[in-house]
Amino acid sequence: MCGIVGYIGKKPANKILVDGLKRLEYRGYDSAGIVTLDENGEVKINKVKGKVAQLDDEIAEQADKNSIGIGHTRWATHGEPSVANAHPHKAGEIFLVHNGIIENYKELKAELADHKFVSDTDTEVLAALINSFYDEKTSLFDAVRLALKKVVGTFGIAVVSTREPNEIITARLGSPLIIGLGDNENILASDASALFGLTDKAIYLNDGEMAKITREDVKIYDLNGSEIVGKIEKIDTNLAAIQKNGYAHFLLKEIMEQPETLNATLRGRIDAMKKTVKLGGLNLSEKDLKNVQHVVIVGCGTAYYAGLLASYYLAELLPDVTIEVVVASEFRYKKSFLPKNSVALIVSQSGETADTLACLREIKSRGAKTIGVVNAVGSTIAREVDGGIYVHAGPEISVASTKAFTSQVSAMIMLGVSMAQTRETAEDFVEKIVAELAILPDEIKKLLNKYVAEIEKIATKYAKYEHAIYMGRDTAFPTALEGALKLKEISYIDANGYAAGELKHGPLALVDDRFFEVVMLLEGNLLDKTISNLSEVNARGGHVFAITNSDKEITAESILRVKTDLKILTPILLNVAQQVFAYYIAVARENDVDQPRNLAKSVTVE
Ligand code: F6R
Repeated sequence: MCGIVGYIGKKPANKILVDGLKRLEYRGYDSAGIVTLDENGEVKINKVKGKVAQLDDEIAEQADKNSIGIGHTRWATHGEPSVANAHPHKAGEIFLVHNGIIENYKELKAELADHKFVSDTDTEVLAALINSFYDEKTSLFDAVRLALKKVVGTFGIAVVSTREPNEIITARLGSPLIIGLGDNENILASDASALFGLTDKAIYLNDGEMAKITREDVKIYDLNGSEIVGKIEKIDTNLAAIQKNGYAHFLLKEIMEQPETLNATLRGRIDAMKKTVKLGGLNLSEKDLKNVQHVVIVGCGTAYYAGLLASYYLAELLPDVTIEVVVASEFRYKKSFLPKNSVALIVSQSGETADTLACLREIKSRGAKTIGVVNAVGSTIAREVDGGIYVHAGPEISVASTKAFTSQVSAMIMLGVSMAQTRETAEDFVEKIVAELAILPDEIKKLLNKYVAEIEKIATKYAKYEHAIYMGRDTAFPTALEGALKLKEISYIDANGYAAGELKHGPLALVDDRFFEVVMLLEGNLLDKTISNLSEVNARGGHVFAITNSDKEITAESILRVKTDLKILTPILLNVAQQVFAYYIAVARENDVDQPRNLAKSVTVE
């Protein structure tokens, strides 16, 4: 989703801003822009509809040495992608970039008759509002503060002014901002990856905080203007994690690195010899863990499906606990009873998803304990939960989530094991599943070493279709949902996942030559029943791609037989095969694999 970068220092700002915006490209965007100022308030502005690379070309031809600036990548919400709607927006002497949504922009606009609007954006309304307070007696800082008091909605903003060209004012409510601290220079960004390679010291702004950033100093305030002390934190600046390292796409790199990223999830937490799990950071006492009666898992998209798959394992591990999995955007609006002693697992790769964050706050206000299952260190969700398990999968740059899913499911299983150990339930299952978790990274490695070429060949056969059905039973059902999501978002094939037993209750009517079907058949897991469902599709002329770990006779147009020592965690492994399959279909269709159309990484609007 939208990205913000700001710089104030001694170096030319334009290059630093554009490089920062490039590191935020993965979030998805459709236009980009920067404004730079010199110490006398001279301005240079560049905006493009399309890619940051175009901005790079533009600034290469300009001898701009201005050392203050703000930049933005925009993901359209109000108004189409265009140069006019791209940020920064100008009103009088000020320039503004903004992430989030100004919900009352229509009412505010009606009161700002003096400003001649040139865009369709809510951001220009905020720029005009700030400008309306920016008279001779009012500083930029106060004008921003007064304007924000009238705003309903969410914002992460950066503002500069030609009248006060030696500072950047920034503020946050519901949209992340982080200020990197340098030596006589400071850099602001909506995402820590824009700071990689520049500094490892930073202050995360909290909701309802503002900052005045100069070359030498960063001062943090609340929205009433009272100064507060910002906490300086060390951030991970591993640049390699946000580079393709020779792969054609980030998506492929992230699929291929899963053996290592999953190892990072498990490291120091499972003891394969003793078959135990130890999690620090939960902030739950043994008594709390023993008293849990209900687990609710919330997340969006892939994070939701990770929760759904994990719930099957949690149900085995915790037979005396009810387990509920809810899409975050629905949880808040559906009246539901949250039993006493509930624990909520808040699952999010980015830790910034607006629906999930809102859910977390709602659940906390209802008195339940919240545990984050989050990848992005220092993200808002990670900071607001009562306790958590960082999944440690490293930065996920491709918009489509892959390695995060594998690590999220595994992290939730570890939590289930840790609870089961405390409660002394499902002892046999605990032993088996810990042993499988311990070998899962190696099993994924074997799959990636052995089967990628075969999967690519199969994928090429199915790239021509416009419709797909994914199906599976039991743990293969949420895996089918995730497989279909991956395919649809990167290939644009209309793909839907079903419980295999449900096909005869409706979706079977779809089966014809426009469709292909992906069926996951798991040894020891309702295999014969799934084979019957597969036969029903075959009998209607289906074009089936079967993925299985079984040696049993199976009839299908294409079959991928994966040899594995896993018995319980096979769906996590075979989902990796689904990821590879979706990837090669998207490549065959020549799509923008890492940044699929219309989508954004880190969805910070509801
Ligand atoms: C799918 C995908 C999305 C995200 C969803 C939640 O590949 O990327 O469905 O999973 O937007 O995002 P996080 O996990 O950041 O909360």
